Amino acid sequence: MNEVRVGLLGLGTIGTGVARILIEQQELISRRLGKNVRLVAAADRDLKTERGLDLSGVRLTDDASDIVTADDIDLVVELIGGYEPARTFVATALENGKHAVTANKALIAKHGEELFPLAASKGVAIGFEAAVGGGIPCLKALREGCAANAVESVYGILNGTCNFILTKMENEGADYADVLKEAQELGYAEADPTFDVEGIDTAHKLSILAAMAYGSKIKFDEVFTEGISKITAADIESASELGYRIKLLGIAKPHGDGSVVDKVEMRVHPTLVPVNSQIAQVSDSYNAVQVSGDFVEHTMYFGRGAGERPTASAVVADIMDIARVSPDGVEYLAPPMAYVAEERRDLQT
Ligand code: HSE
Repeated sequence: MNEVRVGLLGLGTIGTGVARILIEQQELISRRLGKNVRLVAAADRDLKTERGLDLSGVRLTDDASDIVTADDIDLVVELIGGYEPARTFVATALENGKHAVTANKALIAKHGEELFPLAASKGVAIGFEAAVGGGIPCLKALREGCAANAVESVYGILNGTCNFILTKMENEGADYADVLKEAQELGYAEADPTFDVEGIDTAHKLSILAAMAYGSKIKFDEVFTEGISKITAADIESASELGYRIKLLGIAKPHGDGSVVDKVEMRVHPTLVPVNSQIAQVSDSYNAVQVSGDFVEHTMYFGRGAGERPTASAVVADIMDIARVSPDGVEYLAPPMAYVAEERRDLQT
């Protein structure tokens, strides 16, 4: 395949970013890959909004089903978000032998276990690096950097909106509702911001991270989840007086004997972290993921966890990974990426 022809579902914040990278970095991408990645078509219900992009060479449609079945598309990028119709579109694209890349953590957390075998049976890949940690390559770090380790713990700040709110409440005494509105305007928040503030988005991401770390199935429904909506200015002040900061953490801990994990504990809740700790320094919409492995020891991955450009950067990196290995090496990404050769177990949570 000398050219990878991309169809994009969704021209919202992240979709616009992906289109921008594919257009503005086209030359750099093709030089690095030795093949072109071309944005052939894009679907969105709103085709009128000015996005500051020259989309004249791109076939625009308001019907995503055109793209997932089109003969001239090799890879579908799903950036609609949410469970449905995203699941149906991705499943149809896979059924039609197209690779899929998504930033949709809700989709992977809830339906990954149905989509992965479908992709494998069709010999195509699903990339979802952008679903966890936005622009931070934390899934790649687990899959590649920590490949030879038994992972001892994974935890992190996985929601930019909550971290933005907590940071502004602490530093500026800002009002919760005002900061949430600002996060929405900056394009960080989910379409339904209760997913952010009630910890559901973090739980989606944690369930994916845990599956990657421990070779287990994705079990989003079993994550203990508590968000930040009940945190008050007084809580933040009391924490600060005691030398702590409040962060919304997603934490996954294995239980078992050495490298044989038989249970993974997954929880999301506001957590007191010592003010001098590394994780306490992660502010605004930044995310951080801390992974400890038996050989590598402590590692930490940090960067922008939300927003157009960082998230789009991770989406396009997945497109490039698939372009590099396709058509013979799709196993490289067929998820959960590190565990293709290993039978994934139905671990207790
Ligand atoms: N709503 C998410 C966040 C977007 O605030 O982190 C990135 O997944």
